[in-house]
Amino acid sequence: MLSADSSFDEKSATALVNSSWANTSDERLKKILTSLVTHLHNFVRDVEPSMEEWMQGIDFLTATGQKCDDKRQEFILLSDLLGVSMLVDAINHRRPAGATESTVLGPFHLVDSPPRELGADISLDANGQPCVVAGTVRSLDGTPLSGALVDVWQANGDGFYDVQQPDKQPELNLRGLFTTDETGRYWLRSVVPRHYPVPTDGPAGDLLEAAGRHPYRPAHIHFIAGAEGHHPVTTHMFLDESPYLDSDAVFGVKQELIRPVTTVCDATRAAEFGVQAPFRLIEFDIVLDAAS
Ligand code: BEZ
Ligand code: FE
Repeated sequence: MLSADSSFDEKSATALVNSSWANTSDERLKKILTSLVTHLHNFVRDVEPSMEEWMQGIDFLTATGQKCDDKRQEFILLSDLLGVSMLVDAINHRRPAGATESTVLGPFHLVDSPPRELGADISLDANGQPCVVAGTVRSLDGTPLSGALVDVWQANGDGFYDVQQPDKQPELNLRGLFTTDETGRYWLRSVVPRHYPVPTDGPAGDLLEAAGRHPYRPAHIHFIAGAEGHHPVTTHMFLDESPYLDSDAVFGVKQELIRPVTTVCDATRAAEFGVQAPFRLIEFDIVLDAAS
């Protein structure tokens, strides 16, 4: 690699290191490594870190790895806080106009959400203001999608997920997997979620503090919706009454996903959902684009 006419210096560094990938047979890997080195070197040229700053960076990444275990993924949190997760999501979910926008999955999804009947109350401990969540899953051409799966999970009225409070909240609290009826409708009872901070007891939290950034996410309900022959969507519905809509710590808010919590006084509508009027209602329709 090193020859007499290519010794390492500030100018030759990038070409020299990138030439070391010459024997990488996987073309995609070669492209990724070459781009990584090019951007990293340019970052170092731009910042000109002192030896102490470079070591601080190494220590930060080391601590980030050490904070990870089977329940905590500090690198994903870091990726979220840097807007990388949302950028990767945007690149991988370019959808036609009119299809429901995607957002980050977040760390609190469980692979096996409990299947529940339409109309079920997913708040098992009634911690928060009761509400109904309802909508229709449609195809981009307007056809209602019956038999679509709608996976829902959310924080409670104090801003905590069940997995964060295993001693306080019932297992599988505020989670449910619903199947739309013959008209594509889903509906469930729940509580109005509260905004909450991302975990701050690790290096990602230290970074936020050093940067003078707050750790909060606006109040939201998570959804994964899927139907046969359609691209699934991982998304959130954000409450328009929540603080932090314009400064979500993980950059997940999209204007199209913000919805009001309305108060419904109509007794007939209340009876449809098996609740008493007046009741609070969040409506969130989901539009999926057909997989060709
Ligand atoms: C969430 O919405 O559950 C979440 C997303 C990213 C980081 C932390 C939490
Ligand atoms: Fe969340």
